[in-house]
Amino acid sequence: MAKEINTIGVLTSGGDAPGMNAAIRAVVRQALSKGKKVKGIKRGYAGLLNEEIIDMDAKSVSDTISRGGTILQTARCMEFITPEGQQQGAEICKKHGIDAIVVIGGDGSFQGAQKLAALGINTIGLPGTIDLDIACTDYTIGFDTAVNTAMEAIDKVRDTSTSHERCSIIEVMGRGAGHIALWCGLANGAEEVLLPEKYDYDEQRLINQVIDARRYGKQHYIIINAEGIGHSQSMAKRIEEATGVETRATILGHMQRGGSPTCKDRVYATTMGAMAVDLLCEGKSNRVVAHKDGKFVDFDIDEALAMKKSVDEYMYQISRTLV
Ligand code: ADP
Ligand code: F6P
Repeated sequence: MAKEINTIGVLTSGGDAPGMNAAIRAVVRQALSKGKKVKGIKRGYAGLLNEEIIDMDAKSVSDTISRGGTILQTARCMEFITPEGQQQGAEICKKHGIDAIVVIGGDGSFQGAQKLAALGINTIGLPGTIDLDIACTDYTIGFDTAVNTAMEAIDKVRDTSTSHERCSIIEVMGRGAGHIALWCGLANGAEEVLLPEKYDYDEQRLINQVIDARRYGKQHYIIINAEGIGHSQSMAKRIEEATGVETRATILGHMQRGGSPTCKDRVYATTMGAMAVDLLCEGKSNRVVAHKDGKFVDFDIDEALAMKKSVDEYMYQISRTLV
């Protein structure tokens, strides 16, 4: 029989995301309600290796549910990618009496959790990233807040773009994934979305469309460009030169990662945090909590990491037809 879990660690890793605090709070309070001890590990795997480990009680997560960012801080830690770093991490867990860790982060962070599980530490992953780029789940903690933040900012750019009859290129986050760009494309009624998954580098087609739209009487031309494609400033310069339409680039940047989480991010992150503790108490490990086809479920981390995700093809098609 699996050894009973007495102490659960929790950490956030990779890029922060609104709702991570709600998840931490749920892990802490659900664990306490089941008579478990909780230790917060600061700064992701870097903090684990530096033994930045704190005791957490119900009060340590008071007043956090509405706050963006992560109270545990987050980091990217190259040392943990090495087998030596992982071995050291597992030994530090044992030294501090940590039987299990809840890892809140993206695919990279789950690979870390997978390695710890193989070294005898029970692990559960919670999908935390604004990018929505985790294949096993239709929802990731932070996406809803980030995409609403981007949408509101783009509405504002659109107002001034219309007044000045300009073309606007608005760059949203997503180095490898175009979900924020695609959702904003639909939510903001953009004329064009440029996604890393779909980009064909056909700038002449874009230029022709800007010219056609101006002839047709469009007062603005909104292009949502994903960070993974980038080069928004130079693209704006070339489009202006080729079309004669004044063009400006706006890079939204890290504002998309901050702010108070939406209701959806608070509720889903809370549910997932509590579920992580329940799974551990049922003796499960090396699992990822997901929201799939309308239900909260869990997957084996190895299976979850082997899954592939792209942008929704139908949403992409209609982003091109509804202009
Ligand atoms: P995300 O979790 O958002 O995908 P990263 O890919 O930057 O973000 O990963 C976050 C951290 O997870 C890394 O800095 C590293 O500490 C850990 N990590 C990433 N890949 C691995 C791996 N293959 N093995 C062990 N740990 C990893
Ligand atoms: O993974 C979340 C994310 O915000 C991506 O959209 C973006 O490409 C990346 O993190 C930016 O990371 P950093 O804050 O390290 O520049």
